[in-house]
Amino acid sequence: MNGMIFDKSHVFYSPNKVVFGPNTIKSLGIEVQQLGGKKALIITDPGVVQAKLIEPIKASLEAAAVSWVVYDQVRPEPPVACVEEAVSIFKSEKCDLVVGVGGGSSLDVTKAVSLKATNDMGVLEMCGLDLVKKRGVPKILIPTTSGTGSEITRVAVLVNEKQNIKTVINSLYTLADVAIVDPLLTLTVPPKVTADTGMDALVHVIETYVATSATPFSDILAEKAIEWIAQYLPMAWAKGSNLEARYYMSLASTIAGMAFASGGLGAVHALAYPVGTEFRLSHGRSNAVMLSHVMRYNLSGNPERYAMIAQLMGKDVEGLSAMEAAEVSVEAVENLLSIVEISYRLRDYGIPKEAIPKLVEGGMKFARLFALNPRDLGEQNVRSVYEEAY
Ligand SMILES: [Fe+2]
Repeated sequence: MNGMIFDKSHVFYSPNKVVFGPNTIKSLGIEVQQLGGKKALIITDPGVVQAKLIEPIKASLEAAAVSWVVYDQVRPEPPVACVEEAVSIFKSEKCDLVVGVGGGSSLDVTKAVSLKATNDMGVLEMCGLDLVKKRGVPKILIPTTSGTGSEITRVAVLVNEKQNIKTVINSLYTLADVAIVDPLLTLTVPPKVTADTGMDALVHVIETYVATSATPFSDILAEKAIEWIAQYLPMAWAKGSNLEARYYMSLASTIAGMAFASGGLGAVHALAYPVGTEFRLSHGRSNAVMLSHVMRYNLSGNPERYAMIAQLMGKDVEGLSAMEAAEVSVEAVENLLSIVEISYRLRDYGIPKEAIPKLVEGGMKFARLFALNPRDLGEQNVRSVYEEAY
């Protein structure tokens, strides 16, 4: 299925510039200058401010004589209201550039603010595929967790608070002008968040590696990222200050972003979305909970790829058939989840069994992602995956 198909075309998306490595945060001021920015709106959340991660950002801007204001009220699963609040500050303070700092929520809000600043459209009107009319103001994205890959991708995920549903701006214009990925910013991330976000990155690369839309670009990136996450996530979780582990998790999450921005996602994200929004589980945790169950369901759709995942995760599959080796990939993922103390049972999160119909309904709203999944799913299959996950 995913063998090279020589008559197929492929698209690769990436920010204009990615600056990676320890202390790269110091280059922020210069990057702003190069983009012609005079006054930046820093968009972040209270946790980032509390962890003092905003300090090196301010210092770098000051050193480059760039003035700044801060909007630090981004909420998790960011509602459209966050975008509107930040845009009004951007306009009243006469800013000309946005700097997003934080996890996926802060970076996604920053992308939307950049677009809303130049487009005379409502935020919800921009949600959908390629509906944004104009390029936004310049944006620099700085992740402080290793997982979402939002600094790389061409989507901004927001919550339509009236309907309590995730909605997505999918536009080329959401791509960052510059992504600055500094592993030193992730050293203080607590173990639980390290585990959740790291698993999100693993879901990205596993989903894209088995997707019908996988490309030669996404394959190469995904293989390396799977290997690094399996190797380094337990270490980053066990000892946050382990720079080597943080370095490789930052790198893996960034290249995982590049992989899935081009190769697409699948049923794990689709089925995780309602778990996250209905029961307030983080994006990473809800994906982590659903991953092995969707994998088990999917194996027959692409056993060779799942067998390869088992190998990349360090499992010995010699002498096994492709299907047997594929099954080992599920074990490998469940081992990893156990190491980082993530339960993959819905019941462990206070989710009642009676909630399954609601989850099925929610999952079916993302059925567009099923098109890329290696095995077809109907409503009945979705129900049995949730039952299996229970
Ligand atoms: Fe994700």
